[in-house]
Amino acid sequence: MTRPRGGEDARTEGEASRREAPRRAPAPAGADAVRVRPAALPDLDTVVALRIALLREHGDNPVYSRLRPDAATRARPLFAAQLESRQETTFLAESRGAVVGILRCVEAQGSPLLYPSNYAYVSSVYVVPPERRRGVLRALMGAAVHWCGERGLTEIRLHNAPENHLSSGAWDALGFEVVEHLRLRRLP
Ligand SMILES: CC(C)(COP(=O)(O)OP(=O)(O)OC[C@H]1O[C@@H](n2cnc3c(N)ncnc32)[C@H](O)[C@@H]1OP(=O)(O)O)[C@@H](O)C(=O)NCCC(=O)NCCS
Repeated sequence: MTRPRGGEDARTEGEASRREAPRRAPAPAGADAVRVRPAALPDLDTVVALRIALLREHGDNPVYSRLRPDAATRARPLFAAQLESRQETTFLAESRGAVVGILRCVEAQGSPLLYPSNYAYVSSVYVVPPERRRGVLRALMGAAVHWCGERGLTEIRLHNAPENHLSSGAWDALGFEVVEHLRLRRLP
């Protein structure tokens, strides 16, 4: 199993990168190139580590800040079932032999009243802080678009938190427009 690079320190480094978000050089070709592959059950530890790191990095968000202390334990059977499902795939990006990014893509059913019947829902998108701004997300999204094409899906949807300027900038750059807002009101 390939371990995620930067997983342990992801929260601290992520907070630093959220403040600065420096523009890095494009991903080089050759040995340093980014390779994307579907995750499988033997990748479960890596998938859990990356997805928990993503949640930790959203500690300021009203929804994602409420992370349960045993989230990693709860995640294992859930993520294992997702890795085995035929309705979805999780892509891992590797560079220099380490996993550096993740993206989950689910075939979701649309409203029977609307077109299209099915669409792709993308979630759990995370690139380890030291590898950001090198085209890792672009490579993961390329694999997702290819997966959609194979399944006849013509549309990708996703949610992103408004305070997360890293992802807002990336989704703008990758052609995703904002079409809806999620609102939350806590009840006494
Ligand atoms: C958002 C995130 C996945 C981007 O990954 P990445 O590998 O750095 O993105 P890429 O290098 O592939 O960039 C893809 C495009 O987005 C743009 N982009 C990426 N990060 C950006 C930022 N912080 N600000 C503005 N644009 C950005 C890039 O410029 C690039 O466009 P270009 O090729 O036209 O220049 C990464 O910052 C991350 O993991 N953030 C924390 C977790 C998170 O926010 N996940 C998304 C939840 S919805």
